[in-house]
Amino acid sequence: MPVDDLALEAQLRYYRERAPEYDQWFLRQGRYDRGSEENRLWFEEVEELRAALRDAAPGGDVLELACGTGIWTAELLPFARRLTAVDASPEMIELNRGRPGHDAVRFLAADLFTWRPERTHDFLFFGFWLSHVPPDRFEAFWELAESCLAPGGRVFWIDSRRNPASTARDHELSPPGAWTLTRKLNDGREFEIVKVFHEPESLEERLGALGWSFEIRATEHFFLHGLGSRTSEHAS
Ligand SMILES: C[S@@+](CC[C@H](N)C(=O)[O-])C[C@H]1O[C@@H](n2cnc3c(N)ncnc32)[C@H](O)[C@@H]1O
Repeated sequence: MPVDDLALEAQLRYYRERAPEYDQWFLRQGRYDRGSEENRLWFEEVEELRAALRDAAPGGDVLELACGTGIWTAELLPFARRLTAVDASPEMIELNRGRPGHDAVRFLAADLFTWRPERTHDFLFFGFWLSHVPPDRFEAFWELAESCLAPGGRVFWIDSRRNPASTARDHELSPPGAWTLTRKLNDGREFEIVKVFHEPESLEERLGALGWSFEIRATEHFFLHGLGSRTSEHAS
């Protein structure tokens, strides 16, 4: 099996097993608790992300990819006329569906490396997903993104900056340039998953070459976010 298929399989197994403990990362609990000062910075920057998402004015027919437990589904829901959320983990979807008000969301269990949308959408969102796309599937992923959007549709995404304090105390960052790293569950089991840390400038350029126009911003320590749309048809 090609190395990225193995990594993608392990990555999905990791998230399926991690679903019940996933929110500890976002809430800075347990192994993700970095002490009051670092945690304060984290939550301040999460507020910046929420504000940037609101400023992007999500609306209409909204699609969320790799929705997870619903941290960002909950932010999108008040703005969407219709919200569809896709994830390959049924465990993540169950947790997401159980949040108050999320019975209004249409959930799809699907693998984003093979799934194709049945229709187009006005607004596409993915949080902490782009970094889990292996380098040799980057272009194909952006073709999927294009196929999800109606003419004039927009994309907003959020992801991690390369900062050791973003993750658990017992995780190590991979060396620069590596695209996999080892992640652990609370019980100590280890998984080799995909994690590509993007840099705003080079990512803007790469997306520009694929026919996208993006404005990508970094918060001071932890996050990247980007808002963009197609500038031209992809020449494939
Ligand atoms: C880092 S989490 C992000 C979750 C959520 N977007 C958030 O920001 O909290 C990555 C998500 O991708 C999902 N996932 C992993 N592999 C996938 C695949 N091949 N297709 C679709 N979803 C996948 C996982 O189940 C998990 O919910």
